[in-house]
Amino acid sequence: MTKKSLVSIDQCSKEDILRILRNAESFEENPNRKLMEGKIAATLFFEPSTRTRLSFETAFNRLGGKVVGFSDASTSSSSKGETLKDTILMVSNYADVIVMRHFLEGAARYASEVTGVPIINAGDGANQHPSQTLLDLYSIRKTQGKLDDLTITMVGDLKYGRTVHSLIVGMSHFNPTFHFVAPKELRMPQEQKHFCEKHNIKYTEHSDFTEEIINQTDILYMTRVQRERFTDPVEYEQVKNVYILRNNMLTNSRDNLRILHPLPRVNEIAYDVDDNPKAYYIQQAHNGLFTREAIICDVLGVEI
Ligand code: CP
Repeated sequence: MTKKSLVSIDQCSKEDILRILRNAESFEENPNRKLMEGKIAATLFFEPSTRTRLSFETAFNRLGGKVVGFSDASTSSSSKGETLKDTILMVSNYADVIVMRHFLEGAARYASEVTGVPIINAGDGANQHPSQTLLDLYSIRKTQGKLDDLTITMVGDLKYGRTVHSLIVGMSHFNPTFHFVAPKELRMPQEQKHFCEKHNIKYTEHSDFTEEIINQTDILYMTRVQRERFTDPVEYEQVKNVYILRNNMLTNSRDNLRILHPLPRVNEIAYDVDDNPKAYYIQQAHNGLFTREAIICDVLGVEI
């Protein structure tokens, strides 16, 4: 039984990813298994969350374990000035695994270096969101029947969006082609573009969100412009409504096209898209439950 943290998707080999997806499939068939009986998970959320926190907590409960933690750091002693290190050391006294979301990039890696209790990164600033990537990969494979040779169009906040940064790394094993659609203020950072170049991944960049691009796409990955990442509110106001996907833009899209979004959405997907069979974001979030059951077992070294 080997325990390990999940702080970044780049620590997962192709085999690791495929194993977790296989196990997630098995949890989709039967989500209620007492594999975590007698174990405690701590969920430490220094930033708001609906899906990630509640699906991790549901996953641990469905596996027969118990959950402690906080969803609002102002109710924890970090509001009195306690350091992240001390918080992690304290919670390590109580829990078998720690699921942590923090506004600072690198916070999960730091936490994993100060404790022997496995840390699952539930999002660190604009850096990484590896469990989201695994559920995205699960959703992509489930809807496309494969992961290889797909065209993925990422739209919106590609600068601060940790889900798109992680997804590029996760898809890098599967020969993707990317279209990056963003306003100039929110373009994909050089780091991710260099990663693509180093791994011979094809990508194009666009500032216009056109039907021509949609019609070449297998997975349309929409993202929210994240108000909380802007230091300048004027800059946020300039870009917040820049791309809105409407149902009539999907008329000539591929039959296999599916629309994903890590959620929450604000206005970037119009509500008339929700009834289109190509809209998959609600089922995508549901897949998060099964994928997170698989991730919990994986980091705690529990055989399924
Ligand atoms: N996708 C995602 O991380 O959603 P939450 O912020 O609600 O957890």
